[in-house]
Amino acid sequence: MIEASAPAKVILVGEHAVVYGQPAIAVPIASLRASATAEPGAPGQGLKIVAADLNQTLPLNVDAGLVDHALLKTARLVSETHRRPLPDLTITLRSQIPMASGLGSGAAVSAALARALSAALGEPLELERLNALVYEVEKMHHGTPSGIDNTVVVYDQPIFYVRGQPIERLTIAAPFTLLIGDTGQSALTRIAVGDVRALVEREPERYLPVLSQIGALVREARAAVERGDAATLGERMTQNHALLQTLAVSSPELDRLVHAALDAGVLGAKLSGGGRGGNMIALVVPETVARMRQALERAGAVHVFETTVQ
Ligand code: MEV
Repeated sequence: MIEASAPAKVILVGEHAVVYGQPAIAVPIASLRASATAEPGAPGQGLKIVAADLNQTLPLNVDAGLVDHALLKTARLVSETHRRPLPDLTITLRSQIPMASGLGSGAAVSAALARALSAALGEPLELERLNALVYEVEKMHHGTPSGIDNTVVVYDQPIFYVRGQPIERLTIAAPFTLLIGDTGQSALTRIAVGDVRALVEREPERYLPVLSQIGALVREARAAVERGDAATLGERMTQNHALLQTLAVSSPELDRLVHAALDAGVLGAKLSGGGRGGNMIALVVPETVARMRQALERAGAVHVFETTVQ
């Protein structure tokens, strides 16, 4: 039996602007993962994908050309990359990552599936090829992905990311703790990204400077992370949230969680990912985690996850 996994992610700073060439920082959530186990199947069964948590079972013959589905597309791309037909295999997918909530669930499930499948074919994909493959699948979720989600999920490490440039691993001078508050409202990144594009195209003189301001905050946040300055990182996160509000990608629920966290005394808070729902993040002093978690739950968070970035 072969087992593979990939983590969830959060964007620490810089979402949306990263689509337009600005930098962004993303970190994996090691404790929240998608996993895939591959077992030999009955002769002639083809590839069967059982995605219990995702409410899907796909007994499928990938060679039959059914490609309009992220899991199918992933399997087909692995097969093409290896120039091999898919073996008789049952792959079971499990995911602890809430879907459509800005935590990279789609990229993580694809990465885990591609890892298990390529390992079962006897040629595990190396990171660069796996990343390119998951990027192709991400394009199904929205047409113009920056590539940050698949990259942080595949490389499983904190990254400073600029579209089209070599991936830079972020140096974390001092570990920091994030609480991730889920509004419970699913939101499609595609819609938010499309709406931001419409704004930028309609009024570039107004919105291009907002994207540049986000880029500047990201560079300052990076410097803060690299010198272990949590207070400055928190301020830049909160400022980033205000700029994301200007881009109209927040929501009343996200704003309520962000304000509740700030009122309770976190170092900084913002929405994370595509926005309009999904998750927000708060940078917290480790000793205050229990109190901050309560504040988020009282303000309506349906799940609160904790992660330490190091
Ligand atoms: C989504 O996690 C991040 C966005 O910037 C989209 C992207 O970078 O492709 C909103």
